[in-house]
This record gives sequence, C-alpha cells and structure tokens, in this order.
Amino acid sequence: MKRRPFLQNTFLGLPAASSARIFWWVGKFSWKGWLVFTLAIACALGRVSFAQEAAPSPPAPDLVSSEALELIRDECVGCHRTGKSKGGLKLTTQEGFKAGGESGPLLEPGKAAESLLLAVLSKEGDPHMPPKKQLSQKQIAAFKTWMEAGAAWDAAVLDRPPRPQPVALRPMPSGVHPVLALAFSPDGATLAVARGGSVELRDATAARFPVKTTIAAHVESVESLAWSSDGATLITGGFRRLRFWKAADGVALGEMTEGLAGDVTALGVSGGTLFVADSLACRGGFVHRLNGVEHKMVQTWKAHDDAVFGLVVSADGLWLATAGADRLARRWDAGSGALVGTYEGHTNQVLAVAFDSLAPRLATTGADREIKVWDRESREQDAVLGDRKQVTSALFWSKDGSRLVGVTDRGNGTVFSAIQKHTGEQRSETAKEQKLEKVDAVLQSVTTTADGAKVAAGATDGRFFVWKSADGKLIPVD
Ligand code: HEC
Repeated sequence: MKRRPFLQNTFLGLPAASSARIFWWVGKFSWKGWLVFTLAIACALGRVSFAQEAAPSPPAPDLVSSEALELIRDECVGCHRTGKSKGGLKLTTQEGFKAGGESGPLLEPGKAAESLLLAVLSKEGDPHMPPKKQLSQKQIAAFKTWMEAGAAWDAAVLDRPPRPQPVALRPMPSGVHPVLALAFSPDGATLAVARGGSVELRDATAARFPVKTTIAAHVESVESLAWSSDGATLITGGFRRLRFWKAADGVALGEMTEGLAGDVTALGVSGGTLFVADSLACRGGFVHRLNGVEHKMVQTWKAHDDAVFGLVVSADGLWLATAGADRLARRWDAGSGALVGTYEGHTNQVLAVAFDSLAPRLATTGADREIKVWDRESREQDAVLGDRKQVTSALFWSKDGSRLVGVTDRGNGTVFSAIQKHTGEQRSETAKEQKLEKVDAVLQSVTTTADGAKVAAGATDGRFFVWKSADGKLIPVD
C-alpha cells in the first residue's frame, strides 16, 4: 500500500498544473475549500507519505492483557469508530464493543470460542476482518485469551498513538515543494522557509530576503518548523520525525523518531520545552512534550480524536492551544498538560489557533470559513472576523499582540488590529482590517515579525510572499 502524509495528498502525486486544476474545480463547485477536500481524501485513502511499507511490523513486546486492545486500536478502529462505524460497529469504547454491530454482540459471555469476533478474524470469516489482511494465529489467540478472561477494557490503551507500521520513504516527485511552514527567528533577522523537504534560511534584514543557507532537511515535506527560544537551533517536523539544526550554518544536530506515530503537523516552543503535534488523519491527534535540551519525550496525551492542525504556546508560557480536525480547539495547562478548556463552535475542521498576548483571548480559523475570537476563560465567542467567503487556511497573532493575520486558499490575506468584543450587528466595527495585496496562489502557512510589521506566507506551489502590514503592499523577494 502506498502511504502519503495527508498534507501531501494535496497533490495526489499529480504535476502542479493538474493539482491547480483540481483546486480550481473544488474551489468553484464545492462549498468546502480544497484543504478540506484533500483532507477528506486523506481520510478515505488512509494515511501517509511518499512511502512504501517495508518489513512486517515486529512482534509486540507488550503485556498479553493489553495486546487485544492494542490490536483493536491498531487494526480495527480505523473503520469502526464514531464517524465511520462500518457494520454499525464502534470499537473505540467498551460500550461500543459490548453493543456490537448490525449482527449483534461480538461476544456472548462464556462463549469466546464461538464469538462473532473470532469468526470474522478467521481465514474463512465472512465478512473477513480486517478486510485486506489476515491476523496471525498468535494475534487471534490474544483476542481469545482476552475474551476468556472477561474482555477487560483499558481506555488508556485506546488513547495512546497506534504502534507505527514501518515505512520506507521515497523522494517526493520533483515539482512538489509546498511551503507548509515558515518562521522568523526570535531576533527577526532570519526567515526560515520550508520548501518541500528543504529549509531555506533567508536574510530578513536585506532587500529581497536572499538565501543564506539551504538545508536538505527531510525526504518528505517539512510540515512544521520552530526556532529554539535562543534562536540557536532550528527544529523541523516531518513524517514521524523531528530534526534539529544549528541555525548559524545549517549543520545537523540530531534526530528524534522514537514515539512519533504520524505527521508532525505543528511545533511550539516555550523556554526549554518543545511541544509536538503528532497527527494521524481520522485516528487521533497527540501532543508530546519534549525536554528541549536532551530532546527527550517526557509526556504524551491524546488531544483530539482526529489530526491536530495547529498548536501554539501563549507568550507567557502558561497555556498551550491546539486546533483539531474534530472541529474543536482546546486549551491545556502548559505545565501539566491538563485540559482547561474546549472551544466548541466551528462546524468543520479547525485549521489553526493563535493566542493574543495582550488580552485573555484566542483566535481560531476553521474550514467552515470562519475566524473566531474567543474569550479564553468563558470560552464564549467575542467576535467573528472575515467575510466568510474563503477558507482562512492559516492564522498568526504577532508576538506583541498588535496584529492578527489570516491568509486564504484564494491568495488573499487580512491583517486585523484593534479587535473589539462583538456587541451588536455591526460586523464592520469588530476590528480594523488591512487587506494584503492579493497573490495568485493557494496560501497555507503564515507568520509575522514579533511586532507584526511584516507578514510572510507560504503557498502550495513553493513560493512565499512578504507584505508590509501597514499598507498591505508586497515586498519583492528572490
Ligand atoms: C478497512 C476497514 C475495516 C477494518 C480495518 C476493519 N473492519 Fe470490520 N468491518 C468493515 C466493514 C466494511 C464491515 C461491514 C462488512 C459487511 O457487513 O459485509 C465490517 C464489519 C465487521 C463486523 C460485523 C459487524 C456486524 O455486526 O455486522 C465485525 C464483528 C468486525 N467488522 C470486526 C472487526 C475487527 C475486530 C477488526 C479489527 C481486527 C475490523 N473489523 C477491522 C470494515 C473494516
């Protein structure tokens, strides 16, 4: 089976021109943006990357008692869960397991050997599960032992990332080099631009932002990018891996793969701590906390029931916010990882989230074409921004809190400032808006300098753009 990171499904392996045609088609006829379209395809086709499956997965070293639950998590819930319950069966909770599907319970007490569950797993099973795969005798025996012992449920096992199946990555087709992430260094002097698998370090103090260094960072697309707090290290995230680079000369400092299960879709840095969003389309979005100095994973939790598209740390380092494909945004205590608030209101995937550093509020953008500003504590919507005609695919709040910037899949962008709490019908009074000069590109990443004076955005075709916030004019770049 071919697997591709869901963000790269954007291209479906097609040359840029055909992809552009698909974007156009989708943009024209579908009420959803292309982004949602490609994500839906990713859900349908399964996962990940210009990669092929290599050797079979190694035998599970885990306890027998949790092996059956791990098999359910890794082999079954992809098709038997909320939102996709084939045969009417949901295997994500004990209630779902007990209820069974259209043909009734999977297990009659005391009759494990004759259970429907073992019947579908056997070679002769009709239907046969998993449909295109045969579980080993050992794995089937694990199910039998587990059911004979009373089919005890441990929800924590289901909430851990699935055990990654080995894959071998192949180089991406030439011409596929989306700019999925870009970030200014803490001192604002360098702009890091991820183009496909490489990262360009560009001089943000010189005219036209010339390239200082190009790092051949990953085989797959770089999906996320962050600077260490001191600006000395650059961190890149791709498919199941993080890499660390010396910012001064682009020399590799190390790699981390252990414990990463999917696409590293977002990164957040706070002091010496690195937060990593680890996404499996349709399966779950996990957050890992890393001790930045040793790159050691110290905590993992399931943040969303679907991919995590956005992750930010507040300027004071107290809060972490995540944007989920499950239509929710969530806020976490950055110190403990405890959930402190869920922001409900988007009617489609939440694509990005941003914290205001001046007021207790945060902003989210969704595939439902809305930018929402929320009261951080009450979790009520303070304002809805934008014209609701386009999908704002990326959102960034300048570090000083002065400007919130959103860019769209149609090449538009808006700088919002002086955002007011929404009181009456007058949407126009909600915020001051400065439109960015339109570009002919599908924009999907955005950042600003700390003072918000300059905006940079990346496009699916590999270009990036820089604007002056004050008048929205493009600044030419090489
Ligand atoms: C690729 C998707 C897929 C995967 C993975 C999958 N299933 Fe299914 N499952 C289906 C579909 C589709 C049906 C309905 C088939 C039919 O009714 O002919 C089904 C039906 C079933 C049924 C019958 C439900 C009923 O009441 O009719 C059981 C039991 C079942 N699956 C168990 C499992 C188990 C256990 C696993 C993991 C080992 C699993 N499935 C993995 C797609 C899947």
